[in-house]
Amino acid sequence: MGYARITGTGSYLPDRIVTNQELATRIDTSDEWIVSRTGIEARHVAADDELTSDLALKAAQRAMDSAGITSADVDLIVCATTTPDMVFPSTACLLQAKLGVKQGAAFDVQAVCTGFIYALAIADKMVASGAHKCAVVVGSEVFSRLLDWNDRRTCVLFGDGAGAVVVQPSESPGILSSHLHSDGSLSHILRVGGGIAEGKIRGNPYLEMDGQAVFKVAVRVLGECANEALAHNGLTGADIDWLVPHQANQRILDATADRIKLPRERVVTTVARQGNTSAASVPLALDKAVRDGRITTGQHVMLAGVGGGMTWGSVLVRW
Ligand code: UT7
Repeated sequence: MGYARITGTGSYLPDRIVTNQELATRIDTSDEWIVSRTGIEARHVAADDELTSDLALKAAQRAMDSAGITSADVDLIVCATTTPDMVFPSTACLLQAKLGVKQGAAFDVQAVCTGFIYALAIADKMVASGAHKCAVVVGSEVFSRLLDWNDRRTCVLFGDGAGAVVVQPSESPGILSSHLHSDGSLSHILRVGGGIAEGKIRGNPYLEMDGQAVFKVAVRVLGECANEALAHNGLTGADIDWLVPHQANQRILDATADRIKLPRERVVTTVARQGNTSAASVPLALDKAVRDGRITTGQHVMLAGVGGGMTWGSVLVRW
């Protein structure tokens, strides 16, 4: 078994920005309530004709440009999404066609907000084993389409976007470890039970959530899996340069930093301007911190996610 490392990052946010103030003109909420409970000020929402694969395409192209690779190099595409363009083919296959990639494998991963962590862990193993030479790993969501925009308990929390990385073989460890978990007995606290097909609604097609239960699980498991990664690698919180967690709620991010004894200023946060973009949130935050120069060569970067399932996990990277 060799090693794999992230050689490029990219992201994309739809143009339209919906502020808390705009939401407060439509539903019984306020900027003060949303900011104090979540830290969210605004979120991006995809245009009606923008699909998950369109967002993924822009993020993937930017990641490929930053890695200095072309479509001819890519032999694996893994797309994490909860909002696929269609039941099948997979969004990864649709992305493959849009990228003009003619070779290799493409498939989706469904682990809701932990999806990108799962996808990156899988791609790491497939590249480090030598089976694949160049993976594009994407988290892309149009989560706004799963929301009841009249339900103030949920619609204020989420947004749309996409983030991507390129993973290639390496002589030295880049991706140091991955740890994935799930507990299906908690499936009822965060779910979309129904759906819409051919104009017919079956069950409840919108996101349902027990917010307080999800909050408690998220704080516990993010801390646990981050500490699990530290112990596995013989590190402590003091060795972590940046924590890039799933961006659900500023209070969850702060609590996770505290649990691994990491100063809060070492947490990359995008939740204020993007809300919770599900599987896209970790690669969106990662790309931001890479492009603004915070993440630099040799640093330890902890990626961690939690989401419906419930699912959770971490990937620890030496940049
Ligand atoms: O990827 C994981 C996705 N999910 C999450 O991360 C969610 C985790 N949970 C949370 O972030 C928090 O539980 C929330 C932000 C969702 C809610 O915060 P909370 O402090 O747990 O509030 P609550 O649900 O206990 O609601 C308190 C009050 C209620 O009013 P009453 O019953 O006390 O009169 C709600 O009806 O706040 C009300 N409320 C709102 N008020 C204004 C709920 N949503 C809103 C809103 N604006 N948007």
